[in-house]
Amino acid sequence: MPNAHSYSRLGPEWNVGARADNAAMELSRLTALVTGGAAGIGAGIAERLAAEGMHVVIADLDDRQGPITAERVGGSFLRTDLANRADVHAAVDAAGPVGVLVNNAGGIEEPCFPAADPAKWEQTLDLNLRAVMLATQLVLAPMRERGGGAIINIASTAGLGTASHVSPEYAVAKAGVVRFTACLAPLRDTMAVRANCICPGLVDTPASRRSRSRMTPAELAGLPPVMSPADIAAAAMEFLADDTLAGRIMLCRQGGEPPRLLPVTDGQELAGQGGLDHAAEGDQPLLPAGRPDELERGGQAGRTAGDGQG
Ligand SMILES: NC(=O)c1ccc[n+]([C@@H]2O[C@H](COP(=O)([O-])OP(=O)(O)OC[C@H]3O[C@@H](n4cnc5c(N)ncnc54)[C@H](O)[C@@H]3O)[C@@H](O)[C@H]2O)c1
Repeated sequence: MPNAHSYSRLGPEWNVGARADNAAMELSRLTALVTGGAAGIGAGIAERLAAEGMHVVIADLDDRQGPITAERVGGSFLRTDLANRADVHAAVDAAGPVGVLVNNAGGIEEPCFPAADPAKWEQTLDLNLRAVMLATQLVLAPMRERGGGAIINIASTAGLGTASHVSPEYAVAKAGVVRFTACLAPLRDTMAVRANCICPGLVDTPASRRSRSRMTPAELAGLPPVMSPADIAAAAMEFLADDTLAGRIMLCRQGGEPPRLLPVTDGQELAGQGGLDHAAEGDQPLLPAGRPDELERGGQAGRTAGDGQG
């Protein structure tokens, strides 16, 4: 059972996650809206936030597993298709005042670009990027009115680097989520809302289990150690406990490896210095080139065996 953090009360209502030794505020005062929280990473985050005392609202397409997970965490369930704008509006409205928004729902569906019809790959963009932006926009003003809030976006290592990916639309969307989050860093000062992003590698979830079930033994042997949804939830808690990290991106690459913050760089620096491996903040090169691994070239729903190898 994780330890509960204490949170200071700095704004009119709260300043989510500003750790303090006094004026403690329990997280139980907050509602957390977790998209895609019925299963996988979202369920792991929902469990952790509930254990921290939050009221968790799960917005998910799966109206069989969603209510089960919601009941398990003592929260509530909203049947929501995040790829549908009206549903996103309805979920945010129905959740009530949201203190913590976790934009987690996402994944790949085959066929992928360029075989996919535009409507198909646009849906992947809708789910993995536009829903993140829309839900964020919808909670911002209410969060500000209540004194602040926190947004955690779940992107992917697929959104980092310059390697190819089996689903360009997924990789583009996740890259968009990374940049979107970083661009929102100033909201901490203007709206008391901090946005953060986690880029997981391979996590043990229903989606990745489906993918791995289609792999050959050799492919499986080449995979990095998987992480658990609880590992990603722990990374989310790091962000919730420290508002000096607003706008930062955390890389959770593989089991057994500590998560790390990505350096803050811009395109000018990259051009001038030759790459992220020269970034000032002492981070490592993000993605070993050509490695068929936790960039989850295969870590998502719909992957066929052999996708994205090499
Ligand atoms: N599992 C991994 O290895 C991995 C790695 C990197 C990033 N991610 C990202 O983490 C997030 C969660 O992935 P996961 O592996 O837990 O996936 P999962 O498929 O196991 O679970 C995803 C949950 O989201 C829900 N969902 C899917 N489409 C939805 C929609 N249109 N509207 C509402 N809910 C929807 C599903 O019903 C399910 O409950 C995704 O954004 C994924 O891209 C996963």
